[in-house]
Amino acid sequence: MRIVCIGGGPAGLYFALLMKKQNPGHTISVVERNRPYDTFGWGVVFSDATMEAMRAWDPESAAEIEDAFNHWDDIEVWFKGTRQRTSGHGFVGIGRKKLLNILQRRCEALGVELVFETDVASDLDYPDADLVIASDGFNSKIRNRYPNVFQPDLVTRPNRYIWLGTNKLYDAFTFDFRKTDHGWFQAHIYKFDDKTSTFIVETTEEAYEKHGLGQMDQQGSIDFCQDLFSEVLDGAKLMTNARHLRGSAWLNFNRLICGKWSHFNGQSHVVLMGDAAHTAHFAIGSGTKLAIDDAIELTNQFNRHGHAKEHIPAVLETYEEIRRVDVARIQNAARNAMEWFEVVGRRYADTLPPEQFMYSMLTRSQRISHENLRLRDRTWLEGYERWFATQAGATPSAERRVPPPMFTPYTMRGVTLKNRIVMSPMAMYSARDGMLDDFHLVHLGARALGGAGLVFGEMTCVSPDARITPGCLGLWNEEQAAGWKRFVDFVHGNSDAKVGIQLGHAGRKGATRLAWEGIDQPLDDGGWPLISASALPYLKNSQVPKAMDRADMDRVTADFVRATELAVTAGADWLELHCAHGYLLSSFLSPLTNTRTDAYGGDHENRARYPLEVFRAIRAVWPADRPISVRLSCHDWFEGGNTPDDAAIFARMFKDAGADMIDCSSGQVWKEEKPVYGRLFQTPFSDKIRNEIGIPTIAVGAISEADHANSVIAAGRADLCAVARPHLADPAWVLHEAARIGLTDVTWPKQYHSGKQQYETNLARAAAAK
Ligand SMILES: Cc1cc2nc3c(=O)[nH]c(=O)nc-3n(C[C@H](O)[C@H](O)[C@H](O)COP(=O)(O)OP(=O)(O)OC[C@H]3O[C@@H](n4cnc5c(N)ncnc54)[C@H](O)[C@@H]3O)c2cc1C
Ligand SMILES: Cc1cc2nc3c(=O)[nH]c(=O)nc-3n(C[C@H](O)[C@H](O)[C@H](O)COP(=O)(O)O)c2cc1C
Repeated sequence: MRIVCIGGGPAGLYFALLMKKQNPGHTISVVERNRPYDTFGWGVVFSDATMEAMRAWDPESAAEIEDAFNHWDDIEVWFKGTRQRTSGHGFVGIGRKKLLNILQRRCEALGVELVFETDVASDLDYPDADLVIASDGFNSKIRNRYPNVFQPDLVTRPNRYIWLGTNKLYDAFTFDFRKTDHGWFQAHIYKFDDKTSTFIVETTEEAYEKHGLGQMDQQGSIDFCQDLFSEVLDGAKLMTNARHLRGSAWLNFNRLICGKWSHFNGQSHVVLMGDAAHTAHFAIGSGTKLAIDDAIELTNQFNRHGHAKEHIPAVLETYEEIRRVDVARIQNAARNAMEWFEVVGRRYADTLPPEQFMYSMLTRSQRISHENLRLRDRTWLEGYERWFATQAGATPSAERRVPPPMFTPYTMRGVTLKNRIVMSPMAMYSARDGMLDDFHLVHLGARALGGAGLVFGEMTCVSPDARITPGCLGLWNEEQAAGWKRFVDFVHGNSDAKVGIQLGHAGRKGATRLAWEGIDQPLDDGGWPLISASALPYLKNSQVPKAMDRADMDRVTADFVRATELAVTAGADWLELHCAHGYLLSSFLSPLTNTRTDAYGGDHENRARYPLEVFRAIRAVWPADRPISVRLSCHDWFEGGNTPDDAAIFARMFKDAGADMIDCSSGQVWKEEKPVYGRLFQTPFSDKIRNEIGIPTIAVGAISEADHANSVIAAGRADLCAVARPHLADPAWVLHEAARIGLTDVTWPKQYHSGKQQYETNLARAAAAK
């Protein structure tokens, strides 16, 4: 085959050398606009996994690269006068020039033609090529010639950064955070050869503007950074090698995703590779790694399908299919890490203590979990666990294992929870006339015995017409309060768990069938009239609710107050006001479901007016020593609906009204929603609200292992974790998770002690057998 790689960066060079090596019969050229040994950039970072693959594919270049590598294990964070260090993180760095020079030499040795100082205008310039590799970097001319084919989706990120270097050598990947009058700046610093370290400085657009960096020339910016980071530089100078860039040299990162990666231009197949196809933010240093992995996979596909031109379409198809998955994973992690650095100033730097700030930074990509940190640096993590437990009011002793974050106590007002796990409210559709009876006693009681610190009953409706279905729990009469009291007394008498009641009103989502008879479908018989913020049905075939008038509002507020008084009678420890999932109070908060033009519709203040009225009314009758949390849908997942920014505004309003916590859920407001699910998918909302608004939060949603909960709590992304579906699968989820992480110091019900021992022994045996 005749192959032309346009662009001689890591992607083009590595692909050329691999293909020539696999089949010396190919005629391969790499065409590069720069001169041979002339390149921008400082050091690049690889993971061990990429290095291993390079060793397998081309031991010769891998050996040279490894020789030139700088390896380091430690991460050091400079923050507010502290220097904290952890180990076991395993990075390797190499100068970009060095890397390219090794690859260029290897290409030459294998017989790849290298053409320099040629700026290629078009893929059509090579009519004899069977395959054209568009490895021409992020600004790819080749990709830009076919926007309708490749469908590039570009997002320019808000932060500014400048790539600098220094001759000071750092023995750890070092991060330095500095506060200025106009905001925080951070430096990402790593050594990549025996003379030089990369020194990237990053800040917000606002701080960049206010410091006038946009108006400064490069030397002005260098002087500014040198002054700001003088302590970590310790007299060393900063340098630039981007004199070719015009203006200030402060860049914005551009995140690129392409809808398609290959195209037949009428004479050759063209395929995107490396930065031309996708970008990953430097916060996890993966741009070069992705380029190399692309080159390996495309070669691999030729090996699988055959090194002949008739196989090119199949090769390109499977290449894209396979690489997309890995690229999406890395881009996802890079996005989390990038966002952490974008919000660090307004979210973490002024709120988290240095120890927790460090933990939050280490877990910023959300790919490194608590147990993963233990594997990397047990001593550091145990020190952190001790610090966390002490802050939480636990008294770690020398003889006992320090409880991991999820198992530390938590106090709100006069209520102390023994651990951070909440059994999340879950409708069971199994009540008659709203009564909590035997089913609920056994169901909820089992979860209380199963170790959760706080057990919520399902959404409990404040009047018969507030119910979602005829099977929902209610709290509008003394008999129902007595049913609740029986359950509360059981829990208080047989466990050290606390009981929460979630009060709600179904609004426009009421009068529907039991879940297993058709979720959200209107009742055929026995339905009741519905009310909502506006007269909008939930489904096309749902009943049209009445838009509430003042009299309706007064009646419903009185119902919430009566239910709260009954919850006091029942002896519940905790109350939650359900303002999420499209039910009545949520229907006021979302602009999708609230189209009112009076004082209860329009801006945030108006939309929150009625939910806040209800909140204040129940707070007034709920005992001062007991907490009230508020559940919000922090994202409507639909254009024109609430976003996390709106949720943060509502959270502040509830905080000001006396709410103790925000329970950060999302969705179920609008039927056409497009949620993005995944592990911990709602935790970012909790993180934002807790750390930007300064109110404690409950995180919920796909938290299904102790490792998840420990990471979330330890990083300060939430104060409590609510766990729903895993509790349906396993009433003793908390006790079992404790055993799984080897924590034997957790109290099981005294009746179950012999089961505990056997369970722990079996787990230990299974672990040893592995
Ligand atoms: C200024 C800058 C500094 C960077 N520094 C680092 C760093 O220190 N560490 C790190 O991990 N990552 C760094 N990156 C990111 C990293 O370089 C990329 O993720 C990685 O190099 C991607 O490899 P690639 O081969 O796909 O693209 P590139 O490395 O961008 O290579 C593309 C090549 O194509 C050439 N080219 C472009 N257009 C044409 C044309 N029309 N004709 C001929 N040749 C053309 C370019 O000159 C270039 O050599 C940096 C990026 C930039 C923009
Ligand atoms: C069967 C079922 C019923 C639910 N009922 C309620 C409810 O009554 N009130 C509420 O706020 N959330 C309810 N939810 C949502 C859960 O509380 C929780 O937010 C959601 O399931 C995500 O958590 P998970 O990933 O741990 O399951 C329900 C979820 C399930 C699976």
